[in-house]
Amino acid sequence: MCGIVGYVGKKDAYPILINGLKRLEYRGYDSAGVAIWGPDGLNVQKCKGRVSDLEAHVSGRSMAGTTGIGHTRWATHGEPNDVNAHPHVSNKGDLALIHNGIIENYAPLKEELMSRGHVFYSDTDTEVLVHLIDDIQRTEGTDLAESVRLALGNVVGAYAIVVMDEKYPDMLVAARKSSPLVIGIGEDGDHFLASDATPIVEHTRNVVYMEDGEIAIIDREHGLRVRNIKNQETRPSIQALEIQLEALEKGGYEHFMLKEIYEQPRSIRDSMRGRLNLAQSDIVLGGIKDHEQRIVNAKRILIVACGTSWHAGMVGEYLFEEYARIPVEVEYASEFRYRNPVITEDDIVIAISQSGETADTLAAIELAKGRGATIIGICNVVGSSIARMTHAGSYTHAGPEIGVASTKAFTAQVTLLTLMALMIGRRKGTIDGAKFQQLLLELDSIPAKVEKVLKTEAQVKYIAGIYKDARNALYLGRGYSFPVALEGALKLKEISYIHAEGYPAAEMKHGPIALIDEEMPVFVIATQGASYEKVVSNIQEVKARKGKVIAIVTEGDTIVKEIADHTIEIPASPDAFVPLLAVVPLQLLSYHVAVMRGCNVDQPRNLAKSVTVE
Ligand code: M6R
Repeated sequence: MCGIVGYVGKKDAYPILINGLKRLEYRGYDSAGVAIWGPDGLNVQKCKGRVSDLEAHVSGRSMAGTTGIGHTRWATHGEPNDVNAHPHVSNKGDLALIHNGIIENYAPLKEELMSRGHVFYSDTDTEVLVHLIDDIQRTEGTDLAESVRLALGNVVGAYAIVVMDEKYPDMLVAARKSSPLVIGIGEDGDHFLASDATPIVEHTRNVVYMEDGEIAIIDREHGLRVRNIKNQETRPSIQALEIQLEALEKGGYEHFMLKEIYEQPRSIRDSMRGRLNLAQSDIVLGGIKDHEQRIVNAKRILIVACGTSWHAGMVGEYLFEEYARIPVEVEYASEFRYRNPVITEDDIVIAISQSGETADTLAAIELAKGRGATIIGICNVVGSSIARMTHAGSYTHAGPEIGVASTKAFTAQVTLLTLMALMIGRRKGTIDGAKFQQLLLELDSIPAKVEKVLKTEAQVKYIAGIYKDARNALYLGRGYSFPVALEGALKLKEISYIHAEGYPAAEMKHGPIALIDEEMPVFVIATQGASYEKVVSNIQEVKARKGKVIAIVTEGDTIVKEIADHTIEIPASPDAFVPLLAVVPLQLLSYHVAVMRGCNVDQPRNLAKSVTVE
């Protein structure tokens, strides 16, 4: 999704903005631009393509100036091209604005502004904002901040915006509603703005997360001032960033995705650290302690999420039902929010999101909160909107995930759901003490087992080489492995653009079996456990139709080895913990297929890391 950076201070703005935009590349984008307050007024440069294309575009021009804004655009309204790229400027060229989000009522606003003489050049919804602010300034005679506030009162939609005005050199005005903005407070009057903390961390660790409805005015003279929607001055709350700079870099790996796959033993361990206590046979989740009893008493749990986080939620469903005996419904946040769901005050809603900014998940939370449910968040990004909007929650501690394809966030989410389900089960008495201790021991051994699974990479790469030109692929699993099949299919399609579907293995004969021929690779999670024999039968069905079977099996398996074309071994583990192991070879396989097909692994086409529009 779009990225925002801004700088006010005494240093050259351009390198700070460009580096900041590079840090935001992982979010996904199709054009980039900057505006700098220079010796000749506002200097706006933008173009379609990568940040490196923008650098080439400005090369040879003077980009001097100490106040500026930068943007990476992910097209929603209007195709990716130079004109639609941000910043957008007023007709006189004295105002420049960047925007993340969507202005839903842009069409009537645009019509009204055009009737008042404003000339539009782009197809974007964003351009109305700059004209609207300009119009208000001229008709009301208000200053920049007040004009922004009044303009936003006419807007329906979601936004994070930053505006510059030639009349107010060395000043940026920013505002947010449902789209994040972070302000970094550096030394010597330096101030930074960004849509997430990644461009800020190399400059300062002191940040202010803007709240919905707030307007920030940052200038050389007064530093940072924040006003709320009613125009009252509020005191910004400064927090310390905990991200390490190295975590935002590739650390010797060719791609962020591969680095993040390899980080999983550590990220799973970090998600358990201080929570799983083997010595005292206990699990403590400090973030939800005050709501523990409510969860124990819950008649129902609803899980809302999107994409990979939704798959983690499905594993959560199996976990909570098996160990805590609480009925669970897992909902796509986008469907949940629009279908008038039945929600009561006794419901617990678990919202799962890596970024903590997914628009549909945020809206689902708002809806459930409005109807009195208790909302528990599972987020990776500290201080994100979802983390702040929920009643309580636990962070996943996976560290920054930069690759668009979610990997370590998935396993960290599943780890946390496992901890929650086991803890609630133990408190409720649905797991007895001996069984609980045995499960804790097993869970504690998972990071070491993931290390072992990572050693299959060479074999997985070999298999990737055989199937890299497939046009379709099927992923099958049962029980806890069904969500893993869905996740495996999503990983393949999103980064290698091969059509892939995940199915519960037994569903195959109700339709997808028609697709199977000698061309079709079928990835099957066939580990030893509750449905092993059934899955073996499903594999036979595929082989009888000449499909190619690549099976993930338990170490030492002999039966599947006899029938499958390839097997990848993972260490034995209880069914409930298999997703944490079985997903790893599927991540590696998608990674290698994508690399072999020459795809952009970390920034696949059309995709964004955090989907902040619905
Ligand atoms: O940040 P979130 O976890 O809320 O994001 C949800 C999905 O957009 C995300 O998981 C997406 O499906 C990933 N690209 C999958 O790899």
